[in-house]
Amino acid sequence: MENTAPRKKRALSCIQPSGVPTLGNYLGALRNWVGMQDEFECFFAVADLHAITVRQEPAKLRQQIREMFALLLAIGLDPEKSLLFVQSQVPAHSQLAWLLACHTQFGELSRMTQFKDKAQKHADNINLGLFAYPSLMAADILLYQPDVVPVGADQKQHVELTRNIAERFNGLYGNVFTVPEPYIMKTGARVRSLQEPTRKMSKSDENQYAYVSLKDDPDTVMRKFRRAVTDSEAQVRYAEGKDGINNLMEIYSACTGDSLEAVEAAFAGKGYGDFKQAVGEAVVEVLRPIQERFARYMQDKGQLDSLMKQGAERASLASRRTLDKAMKKMGFVLV
Ligand code: TYM
Repeated sequence: MENTAPRKKRALSCIQPSGVPTLGNYLGALRNWVGMQDEFECFFAVADLHAITVRQEPAKLRQQIREMFALLLAIGLDPEKSLLFVQSQVPAHSQLAWLLACHTQFGELSRMTQFKDKAQKHADNINLGLFAYPSLMAADILLYQPDVVPVGADQKQHVELTRNIAERFNGLYGNVFTVPEPYIMKTGARVRSLQEPTRKMSKSDENQYAYVSLKDDPDTVMRKFRRAVTDSEAQVRYAEGKDGINNLMEIYSACTGDSLEAVEAAFAGKGYGDFKQAVGEAVVEVLRPIQERFARYMQDKGQLDSLMKQGAERASLASRRTLDKAMKKMGFVLV
């Protein structure tokens, strides 16, 4: 009998294996991926080709790719439900990236905030890959024809550019790509640095007290929250100019599920010391089960490698279809 059930919407997202992910990556992106697995047909990848836009040490990169894959499993992504894979193991990503690079304008790439930030941070290595990064990201996305791309707010600009590239390509050659929407959650979309709360929390921050890593043990987490920058008002309320407290309230709300109003009410009349303690404890509880599962996956290298291989095979098949179509439409000769 024909299957008449409407096709589930598709979602795709990736994360770079550059260092241990932070609480920001988790609350802004990873956690939402887990929740999307039933409603969407999901594709999630470790974007290791993106990581080499800044210099990486080979042995460390190898370890970080494995760890990131294990972490995706540990947070609750299920390879039976979602297609989990490593980007570099699927050749179509690099291949489509070149085709798309030839449809991306210099001016568009020059406007990317992430390029400007990273070029400033790595002034001695402003390489072509760093500049062309969004074309590779567009390839990651468009190969799988997703309807939505769940990301944190900092990646919205890249998804918008992907839309422009897809529309341009479709306009020239006929409908090849689904034009996807960014999918950004309200809470956790912009977790900020604990030391400079006007900036985003980033795993590449030199100050370790600025971010919480998903591998931090409970003592470290508590210490980092105790040291978090706040203000001198000593009132737990969400307001303009209270970036540090706003950030802590958002983290607490994302971890406990309480609304910002409920958090304000619960901590009325209490000092920042109590509040920081509570935020730290909420984060510790969120991290505990993830860390336990992560340790188990890292102990079984055979299982990890076999899951990677299965993912790579399935993703290669799925992506090949779109790549072939794009090449054919452009006039390449396929044999
Ligand atoms: P990456 O590896 O920097 O981050 C992975 C995801 O985490 C989100 N994120 C945050 N969310 C909230 N608060 C923060 N402080 C925070 N820091 C990071 C990011 O928005 C992202 O969703 N270019 C991408 C990786 C990528 C990709 C793709 C994403 C490659 N190809 C295709 C989507 C689709 C990146 O560098 O994310």
